[in-house]
Amino acid sequence: MEAQSAFGTYRPVMAIVCATLGILNPNSGSADEAISNNAALERGRYLAETVALCAHCHSEPNDEIDGRPPIESNYAGIDCPILEKNMNPRGKDSEDFVTSKLCEPNITPDPVTGIGGWSKAEIIQAFRDGLRPDGAPLHSNMWLNLHAVSDEDAEAIASYIQTLPPVVHEQPGRGPVLSKRIHDVALASLPPSPAKSPAPSDEVAYGKYLTDIGRCRYCHTPNDAPGRERKGKAFTGGARYWVGGRYLPGARVVITPNLTAHPEGIGVLGRADFIALFRERGRGRKVPFSRNTVMPWVAFAGMTDQDLGAVWAYLQTLPPQPTSQPGDYDF
Ligand code: HEC
Ligand code: HEC
Repeated sequence: MEAQSAFGTYRPVMAIVCATLGILNPNSGSADEAISNNAALERGRYLAETVALCAHCHSEPNDEIDGRPPIESNYAGIDCPILEKNMNPRGKDSEDFVTSKLCEPNITPDPVTGIGGWSKAEIIQAFRDGLRPDGAPLHSNMWLNLHAVSDEDAEAIASYIQTLPPVVHEQPGRGPVLSKRIHDVALASLPPSPAKSPAPSDEVAYGKYLTDIGRCRYCHTPNDAPGRERKGKAFTGGARYWVGGRYLPGARVVITPNLTAHPEGIGVLGRADFIALFRERGRGRKVPFSRNTVMPWVAFAGMTDQDLGAVWAYLQTLPPQPTSQPGDYDF
């Protein structure tokens, strides 16, 4: 990978410094405005780095750390898998092979290899509605869940993305992977994006909001066909996931556990234990790739106790059910 970043891990500090300087600059609007812009940028950073998984999906992963967090959270994209036919583990020139054109793009503001020049509205339309500024559809894996992001949080995230240091990273091999027709059907099936996020004091509603954005249901529900959840089995586990994608040499399947309060699920985990589990697994301990997972532990461990507590509170409201048999479809 040819990624280079001038500021590397100092980026969040830079963003805060720049935003703070805004307060001192008399031409940039009132001090109140600057403070609220500052708060929005911090909210955007928080969501992008944690529950919305922007950094997690859009940065090269470290396969040797539990949960495969970014090597560097630079949003510079992941190299596209360029494969010969005989490298398809399915052993045939199947539809899966075509999806090897799918890779996580560089979303830094580099004007040539990234999304420099995209407006805030265009960035939001990409991650919530799956449309590029030129109208090309993006794969639904990203936006099916992010469609639930509220207008105010979407603004905050897009503002933060625009402050990222540009990284030059070309991604040969990337290509269209979804037809406009399938895109339109999938988008029309979703409830409209909300204007506002639930108040954190409305804990269960806020917890649900976070689980929607954080793809918890998406990963912890069995699917028997692409995009087809097994009916009545939300959050009961049993989805089959390739760690690192099915093309990566040494990739294997993990099966997601049950997140309902059933004893076979997380019934034994109280609120404090639930938060402690994320703190423990999110420490970034070393594991061999052969035992790694798709659960984004490190990203989620960046969430506050309050937010993880809200997620737990929402999960407690689900009907307790035994763990589902693994689905027929693997992701
Ligand atoms: C589950 C992984 C995943 C998550 C989470 C995710 N993305 Fe993406 N994103 C992708 C993939 C994959 C594509 C490319 C889809 C395609 O080419 O059809 C993409 C495409 C994009 C694009 C279009 C860029 C281009 O050049 O076409 C933007 C902008 C974007 N993502 C921003 C975001 C933001 C902001 C977030 C967080 C709110 C986010 N993404 C979260 C995987 C993800
Ligand atoms: C990309 C798929 C994916 C996403 C997204 C995801 N999980 Fe997971 N999760 C997994 C897998 C796979 C495991 C089992 C392997 C492991 O422990 O890492 C797991 C394990 C867990 C466990 C441990 C359960 C146990 O009994 O040990 C909890 C709790 C959990 N996830 C909660 C969540 C929550 C809450 C969210 C959303 C904020 C979420 N997951 C999002 C895939 C995912």
